[in-house]
Amino acid sequence: METRPFRSALYIPGSNPRALEKAQGLFCDAIIFDLEDAVAVAEKANARALLAEALATADYGSRARLVRINAFDSGWAEADLDALADARPEAILLPKVNAAADIEALARRLDDRAETADTRIWAMMESCAGVLNAQSIATAPRMAGFVLGTNDLAREMQCRFTADRLPLLTALQTCLLAARAAGIVALDGVYNAFRDEAGLRAECEQGRDMGFDGKTLIHPAQLAIANEVFSPEPEEIALARRQIEAWAEAEGRGEGVAVVDGRIVENLHIEMARRILARAEAIEAMQRGE
Ligand code: COA
Ligand code: MG
Repeated sequence: METRPFRSALYIPGSNPRALEKAQGLFCDAIIFDLEDAVAVAEKANARALLAEALATADYGSRARLVRINAFDSGWAEADLDALADARPEAILLPKVNAAADIEALARRLDDRAETADTRIWAMMESCAGVLNAQSIATAPRMAGFVLGTNDLAREMQCRFTADRLPLLTALQTCLLAARAAGIVALDGVYNAFRDEAGLRAECEQGRDMGFDGKTLIHPAQLAIANEVFSPEPEEIALARRQIEAWAEAEGRGEGVAVVDGRIVENLHIEMARRILARAEAIEAMQRGE
């Protein structure tokens, strides 16, 4: 189970030198360097070289570094992987994943080179077939996380974008369930209106309440809200501590149940409390740059 925070995962077009530079100082837990849809066809080769150079020379600190390559049927994926092998990103994010076979094909490709022996795979969950195959995709070789591609998904489903995301809920939850069953990370899709802070906050809160680890973002202005919403709140941390304390006291008395604030506290609540404290600690470590 991943313990690092993934509250905010910022997409950076591989073709944008200013953004590649700027990301070294931005408060995001993860960076998704993009060679796929954020990069125009005419810019593909340039972006590959620029990104390989940035990964080799820039200092992205403890931020997770994912690279979204082009899909295999685009004809560009092989060159993307070749250009990046020496840069050793910790993970390749594969777009348009429809089935576990897509992950297996990439895993075989990574097996071929010593440089990519430890590279993990993340999957864009953005097709109807992919969502229906979520469980087998989540358990495929090297899998470490899901990123919801809600724009592509809505296009394929032919559903509307509504503020409550009701048309997408089944797909979001199917992916979340599969990720949790497999013990991998699950990141929510992007919020397109990047100047709309209230809308972003509401969508982050919805994703957090559903169980997502964090949100994928397209603009630095979105970072602070995602970081805040996906961090445990001070009251949650305080309650977790009191629960653990009360539980230890109850155990000392030979009892299997404690009561805190008029609510029963059992073993499973202690597990949840410990997870909240572990997340808070991981976020502090991230902020210290560890
Ligand atoms: N990562 C890092 N830096 C970014 C950034 C990103 N995704 N988006 C913008 N910035 C930087 C700009 O370079 C600019 O830096 P500067 O002012 O210090 O020179 C600053 O943030 C402000 O940018 P702004 O002018 O407000 O935005 P823009 O109009 O240049 O760009 C977008 C808007 C949406 C085109 C741009 O944010 C973007 O390309 N986002 C990523 C899109 C993407 O990856 N899509 C694929 C996944 S859905
Ligand atoms: Mg997409």
